Amino acid sequence: MKILIIGSGGREHALAWHLKQHNHQLFCSPGNPGMAQLGEIYPEGNLHQLKPDLTIVGPEAPLVAGIVDQFRQQNLKIVGPNQANAQLEASKTYSKRFMEQAGIPTARSQQTTTLDQAKQALKQFPLPVVIKADGLAAGKGVIIAHTQHEAEQAIQNLGPKLVIEEFLTGEEVSFIALCDGHNVLALEPTQDHKAVHDNDQGPNTGGMGAYCDSNILTSQQSTQILNEIIRPTVERTNFTGFLYAGIMMTQDGPKTLEFNVRLGDPETQALMHRMDSDFGEVLLAAAEGQLKNVKLNWKPEPSVAIVLAAHGYPGTVRTGDEIHGIDDVQNAVVYQAGTKMEDGKLVTAGGRVLAVTSSGPTLESAIANAYQSVSAIHFDGMHYRRDIAQKGLKRWM
Ligand code: AMP
Ligand code: GLY
Repeated sequence: MKILIIGSGGREHALAWHLKQHNHQLFCSPGNPGMAQLGEIYPEGNLHQLKPDLTIVGPEAPLVAGIVDQFRQQNLKIVGPNQANAQLEASKTYSKRFMEQAGIPTARSQQTTTLDQAKQALKQFPLPVVIKADGLAAGKGVIIAHTQHEAEQAIQNLGPKLVIEEFLTGEEVSFIALCDGHNVLALEPTQDHKAVHDNDQGPNTGGMGAYCDSNILTSQQSTQILNEIIRPTVERTNFTGFLYAGIMMTQDGPKTLEFNVRLGDPETQALMHRMDSDFGEVLLAAAEGQLKNVKLNWKPEPSVAIVLAAHGYPGTVRTGDEIHGIDDVQNAVVYQAGTKMEDGKLVTAGGRVLAVTSSGPTLESAIANAYQSVSAIHFDGMHYRRDIAQKGLKRWM
């Protein structure tokens, strides 16, 4: 199949890596230096002229801008939600209102539009309290305030259009389902690591690492998430594309932290290492509304993706540092995210630079393989978490 992948991150590189193994012809727009080794880089603009058999959209921005509606108008097959449903990710207030109306389990919250309202709302919640900016923020628009002072500062920094909500405790799971408007096909569960430092310390990022392991949820828990969160959403919205629910497994059951309308990054890197089916054929079935009898096959081996971030991330990022050692990696695949070629050298060009991804017969060996490969790579200012997937080990004991 002639497949167009839109995006330039590690997620899109991992999709390209998988699809290439199934002999699809790939076009990447705008792509990155890693993707350029797997397919043809195609310039942005006039994408429909390419007439791909299937288009997959990685990031949220083109979805929010209505790319799916545009492609469909031209009878082109594309995986993703329409512009209206992309609001589930684009606006936290829209998404929260939707969940409340649909009776989907989520944190108790208040929405505000003025500074005064925000200050009043703070009084309704014990500390720590969670403060979320309304719009897209690449995972960085959420502040967990542990003191009154931090909460007030967060309101000042994020602006008055906010969702303020109760702090939930439990384990976090990324639950992603492929949807065709009616049918849903759950992917394997993954766990992301949002905070920049080990032990979930420091500010939130877009994700510092992920692992994919069927042990993350019991089949009963997966069924509960499908029945209480995913299916009611798809039924009400005729959702197409990837519905990604960020879930907290609380003592009162699974609760939705947020919806995304696309695959996760770095979850996709871990997912692609376990995918045994030809995902291209499955995605085509989704784009054609034919997911009903489709099954996905997964390799049993758990997989681990470790993000190597640039100096300053998630704050102001320094770019242009030369990246060494990728070719020395033997036991993992190195997905590129924030990279570019400059004078024949690969250099850093974004916050999350690489995602080193490996698998193994046990989660422990998958972790060891991934970190061993990380040790071959170096760039100035490189930092990464040393505890990716550690929480998952207890399920293996
Ligand atoms: P979000 O973009 O809404 O998923 O928030 C980013 C991260 O903040 C989540 O992955 C959680 O780690 C954390 N978070 C968001 N909402 C809550 C909440 N209500 N309680 C505890 N942690 C939260
Ligand atoms: N890894 C979280 C996200 O893709 O939003």
